[in-house]
Amino acid sequence: MTQRPYVIDEMISAKAIAARIEVLAREIEAEFADTDKLVVVGLLRGSFVFIADLVRDLDLPIEVDFLEASSYGDSTESSREVRILKDLRGAIEGRDVLVVEDIVDTGFTLSHVISLLKSRKPARMRVIALLDKPSRREITVHADWIGFEIPDEFVVGYGIDFAQRNRNLPFIGKVRFND
Ligand code: IMP
Ligand code: MG
Repeated sequence: MTQRPYVIDEMISAKAIAARIEVLAREIEAEFADTDKLVVVGLLRGSFVFIADLVRDLDLPIEVDFLEASSYGDSTESSREVRILKDLRGAIEGRDVLVVEDIVDTGFTLSHVISLLKSRKPARMRVIALLDKPSRREITVHADWIGFEIPDEFVVGYGIDFAQRNRNLPFIGKVRFND
């Protein structure tokens, strides 16, 4: 299948993302100031750039782990069915956990991941998502921190893909089809 032609318009600059991460990192440090058992869990693959920048701004003793849940495939529509493609390497029972997600869209992915991780009895679990599209929500899900609320646009960059492309853009851009 060939991709319809599209262009990418910048929506959130690299500078704006970095400034927001600095603010969020201070709030996360305050929340977890009392722990030396924090595991930062990145949801692959979309959060890999965000988690890399976030953890380097966190002055806390942390471990990093990753979990991969299925998402869109190569379309721009959610599949609604969530599968775990790669599980955590470490146990989280009794640990403090920070889940790091790229985007909350319908909410199905995060909701599924939160239930799964909660069933493993972490001491405390908090959730951060870089982007939130509240107008697209189909299931209620709570994130403790949101980087940016965005309108119902398909976005790419800063780790986020469209059919696996554009993850390496340093900013968040919206996809605009030419036809
Ligand atoms: P949800 O399950 O519908 O909330 O979808 C969440 C996942 O879909 C995110 O973790 C992303 O991987 C992907 N996703 C949602 N919106 C976008 C987008 O605008 N661009 C790229 N991926 C997206
Ligand atoms: Mg994702």
